[in-house]
Amino acid sequence: MTFSSLEEIRNQVVTCTKCELCKTRKNSVPGKGNHNSEIIFIGEAPGRSEDKTGEPFVGAAGKKLSTALENAGISRESVYITNVVKCRPPNNRVPTQEEKESCKKYLESEIAIIKPKVICIMGNTAYQSILGGNNITKERGKFVKKDGNLYFLTIHPAAVIYNQKLLDSLENDMKKLVNGIKEL
Ligand code: URA
Ligand code: SF4
Repeated sequence: MTFSSLEEIRNQVVTCTKCELCKTRKNSVPGKGNHNSEIIFIGEAPGRSEDKTGEPFVGAAGKKLSTALENAGISRESVYITNVVKCRPPNNRVPTQEEKESCKKYLESEIAIIKPKVICIMGNTAYQSILGGNNITKERGKFVKKDGNLYFLTIHPAAVIYNQKLLDSLENDMKKLVNGIKEL
């Protein structure tokens, strides 16, 4: 099925039963933010706070992301934020290949509808499922072109919670992304 609007995607996601994660979630977590954003941020999967509220990146990792964005000069409301899978895996385990496949259509449609200038990949799960990559710590901070899309690679905001060095990396990456966009 193809989607013609983000509302349509949201409506499907909130009632979706396409994979096993629907059995353990409290709430599905559709993407959220500015529908005309020049950047889409893509994380891994909802965590506990997101499962509770139905909104992406509202817990500890989300706070790190918001601050890094603000320090780079953009507000969180001005961008669109989503995840590879829209339901929380039990105990925050990494989503399986099957779960990612089941959920793929939603993410692809979000990108197709918003048509952002840059797709910002946060962490290895998004890196692997979107670009087939596997070492985000090494590749972070880079713009990558593939199949007519422009991507930017950075670490997952949850990784920076107890690690000042990684927090600096995330903050620097966000500045690089925001400055890079101005030149497009
Ligand atoms: N981690 C993610 O990958 N996504 C969220 O929405 C929250 C935490
Ligand atoms: Fe549907 Fe995705 Fe949730 Fe699985 S993770 S139930 S495919 S919305």
